Amino acid sequence: MTYEQALQLLKEHNQTQLLRFYDGLDESGKGRLLSGIESIDWSFEEALCDGGAAAQKKDIRPIDGLKIADIDKKRAEFEEIGVKAIQEGKVAAVLLAGGMGTRLGVDGPKGCYNIGETRDLYIFEQQMDNLKEVVKKCGKTVPVYVMTSDKNHEETTSFWAKHDYFGYPESEIKFFKQDMAPAVDFDGKIYLERMDTPALSPNGNGGWFSSMVRAGLTADLHARGIEWLNIYAVDNVLQRIADPVFVGATIEAQVNCGAKVVCKNDPYEKVGVLCKDGEMPDIVEYYELTDEMANQKDASGDLAYCYGVILNYLFKLEKLEEIVDKKIPIHIVKKKIERVDENGIPSKPDTENGKKFETLAVDLIKLMESVLPFEVEREKEFAPIKNKTGVDSVESAKALLKKNGVKL
Ligand code: UTP
Repeated sequence: MTYEQALQLLKEHNQTQLLRFYDGLDESGKGRLLSGIESIDWSFEEALCDGGAAAQKKDIRPIDGLKIADIDKKRAEFEEIGVKAIQEGKVAAVLLAGGMGTRLGVDGPKGCYNIGETRDLYIFEQQMDNLKEVVKKCGKTVPVYVMTSDKNHEETTSFWAKHDYFGYPESEIKFFKQDMAPAVDFDGKIYLERMDTPALSPNGNGGWFSSMVRAGLTADLHARGIEWLNIYAVDNVLQRIADPVFVGATIEAQVNCGAKVVCKNDPYEKVGVLCKDGEMPDIVEYYELTDEMANQKDASGDLAYCYGVILNYLFKLEKLEEIVDKKIPIHIVKKKIERVDENGIPSKPDTENGKKFETLAVDLIKLMESVLPFEVEREKEFAPIKNKTGVDSVESAKALLKKNGVKL
């Protein structure tokens, strides 16, 4: 793209500020800036115009799921089905590790964070240790696909290589990159992260499957005979991946998706909960529930809207392929965005200074058409690391790991 073409494009989009340092750049900087501008995905503008409104929910109702007591009654049966599916090579794991972990605020990929105290123990390693237990039980390796982004791909792949893939066979691990979206100020102007680089950030975790498709990985999935993909977040260090009981329960329920959930602590806990919108499964956010709905009880006296999602889902590959081209909503999220000042000096702000555009994996649930909420024990399976201290932090996750007998 030439300077004139870039200028024309940016005039059309009202973003000419991206060229303000152009004249002072050397030739390679100029080239970098022009190709950065050329690669901008402008679909964020639609979200900016309509406020990123998610589809309107109309007819919210509670959804049936499996509580721990129900699971316990059929645990052996579910486990047998799940172990068989894993042994037949039908299950793969997909680690969502493309996020920037801004709340944790450490440099580098979140999975490289060392949570050890008397030894090194990285988040990636702890999760792989959990998966290795399943592999040992089933006598079959579960392939792992790791989603990264332009921001952390090199660091992530070299970290895994340096740590010998945490004792896992290298051939069973594949990395792929997700897409990026511009980051803008509160007036919708795209920031410059460097004088020659428009600010781009990972576009959320909702595009994980389309990114896998673009990376050409579906051929690999089919060649291996995979039918189910277990996606999970990098930040939960108690994550149980390819849990045979969960796999078995989802298969037995003949649904397109299983969702690990924890029952809400109290009616107003700030988590999204699984529900139905008409006959379709959906997620209702805590702020969308009326007081009456938040406190509604089911026939057994439990909260009717109780199934809080923890970003651990089992998706049927066949259904994912059917819906991959369907649009999902783009959410606008306020974040701290690194940008240059008027002198071209980059810095990280202390407070939120703009907006990013993200699609979310939860928005795939509705498209799946059927989902099984599968309750797990919070203290055994949910220790997210979002912040350094306080709620969902390094501190709280370490305490839970110790409670579960993990030596730190
Ligand atoms: P979060 O939204 O909690 O994590 O993502 P984040 O964006 O990394 O952290 P903050 O909000 O900036 O502090 C939950 C999971 O989804 C992945 C994350 O890596 C994490 O596993 N994710 C998030 C992606 O893979 N891509 C994204 O664009 C965003």
